[in-house]
Amino acid sequence: MAPAPFLLTGTTGGLGAKVLHDLLHTHHISPQAIIATSRSASNRSKFESQGVRFRVADYDHLGTLEEAFKNVENLLFMSSSERDNDKRNKEHANVIEAAKRAKVGRVWYVSLAFGGFGDGSKIGFQQAHYETEDSLLRSGLSFISLRAGVYADAFPLFLNWYPSSKEVLFPNINPPVTESKIAFASRDELGEAIATLLAQGLKVFPSIKPRTEKNIILLTGPKAVSLVDLVGAIVRGRGTDVGAKYLEPQEWIDASTKDDEGGKPKGWFEARLVFTQGVCDGDAELVDPAMEILLGRRPESGTESVERLVRENRDYTWHQNHMQAR
Ligand SMILES: NC(=O)c1ccc[n+]([C@@H]2O[C@H](COP(=O)([O-])OP(=O)(O)OC[C@H]3O[C@@H](n4cnc5c(N)ncnc54)[C@H](OP(=O)(O)O)[C@@H]3O)[C@@H](O)[C@H]2O)c1
Repeated sequence: MAPAPFLLTGTTGGLGAKVLHDLLHTHHISPQAIIATSRSASNRSKFESQGVRFRVADYDHLGTLEEAFKNVENLLFMSSSERDNDKRNKEHANVIEAAKRAKVGRVWYVSLAFGGFGDGSKIGFQQAHYETEDSLLRSGLSFISLRAGVYADAFPLFLNWYPSSKEVLFPNINPPVTESKIAFASRDELGEAIATLLAQGLKVFPSIKPRTEKNIILLTGPKAVSLVDLVGAIVRGRGTDVGAKYLEPQEWIDASTKDDEGGKPKGWFEARLVFTQGVCDGDAELVDPAMEILLGRRPESGTESVERLVRENRDYTWHQNHMQAR
């Protein structure tokens, strides 16, 4: 039997669902050429009802991955949503081991853009992405690392903003948060760009050259904006006033943890301080043209996305801002 052209992980999530949608409806790939996956077999009918094939793939269970990855040409490997880096590294090691054993043709790993084309970011969750890329390199598999820009859609998480918020708290650090620079990307546009790349292949885009030994393609918005700029975008989009308040780092951690609507613990805000320092140091500022080339138009900037999102829905929330919703 000929290998399945595409196996997609993460298809029940926001990014993977958009990739699947565009492969089917923009690029008119035959549903039978695509295998969707989930940890839960209960999602089977959702995909099979569209004619798409389905397999269970759970990063925690190597056996499911070995079965799922049999006879597959292109594996879209969505990074796990696990927040604990040790657990995430084990899950990702399972995916790579299974891809090796199943002799997958090429792995397209959806990584994250902190550090640009380098490995210098100290931000906690980026470390698992660096480690996964290193493991892919050692594996001998053919792979591309798609370093995805920071989601503009996840802005409530980065600002700890809720529709009820009257002000956004920022830590007083150096360089100051007014100088933070993030080349945010819209999740839908990332999905669109990834689907185009999978459907058409790299050869169609000779100006997009995977960089470094890790074969990195950086997918970013068209310019870097600051976290404080996003507060301005909320104000414009909702037509209400939201202030910005600056506190010393420990004070900021304590005040953010106290009565947090999402119930996030102190450790979460301690990690958020490292994130904020990273984006003030320029970890996410690099802009690359690859996304614009793949979309065939200028992508949305972070402030444009945020303004649109809160204009469309004043009560916009982001699931990862709430501990119980993860
Ligand atoms: N670029 C950014 O700023 C940014 C922001 C947030 C997240 N991310 C990363 O990008 C990934 C995709 O984003 P998203 O917005 O689509 O996330 P999402 O909506 O939360 O969906 C996560 C997807 O990953 C799958 N998944 C999670 N853990 C898995 C595991 N252990 N084994 C197999 N599948 C697993 C889930 O499948 P099932 O539940 O059906 O098994 C689900 O389809 C996230 O998982 C996260 O690593 C990036």
